[in-house]
Amino acid sequence: MRVGAFSSALILGLGLAGMALAAVPAGDPAAGKKAFDQTCMICHNADKGGPNGVGPALYGVYGDKAANVPGFSFSEKLKASKIVWTPDKLDAWLQGPMNLVPGTKMSIAPITSASQRADLIAFLKSRSDAPAAAPAKGKKKG
Ligand code: HEC
Repeated sequence: MRVGAFSSALILGLGLAGMALAAVPAGDPAAGKKAFDQTCMICHNADKGGPNGVGPALYGVYGDKAANVPGFSFSEKLKASKIVWTPDKLDAWLQGPMNLVPGTKMSIAPITSASQRADLIAFLKSRSDAPAAAPAKGKKKG
């Protein structure tokens, strides 16, 4: 019975992984850290309790609401965006912050490599206390 429950969970898990794969491939957090250090660290800190810099502290951003870091002066556009940082939103962000949120203060060259974006997202996921708690809470507000 346990085995049965486990394998159906596994099949469900694989199904979900397959769906996630279609949008954002699974990344490698170690490779993501390297990319982060090269491309993001100049503006962002991703350590637990790390400070804001030119960009906001990113520990815990994975799965969080956008612009939810105390003490950082976010753009009005990002604050108004109502984005929740799920993998596909992060993926879109890294392909072009200005396309996802016109008027954002984050200006970078697009990360054109899908696998590098996936690695960065896996890294951000690893820098979060509740990485499983990604999707929106489903509160419907008209
Ligand atoms: C030139 C500085 C700079 C670089 C480089 C940069 N960012 Fe940012 N980032 C910002 C700024 C500024 C904001 C706030 C944007 C706003 O308020 O509109 C931001 C916001 C973000 C957010 C949303 C934060 C939140 O709390 O909602 C994420 C996620 C993010 N950056 C990830 C990255 C990643 C990953 C990289 C490397 C690929 C990166 N950034 C590179 C400046 C930068």
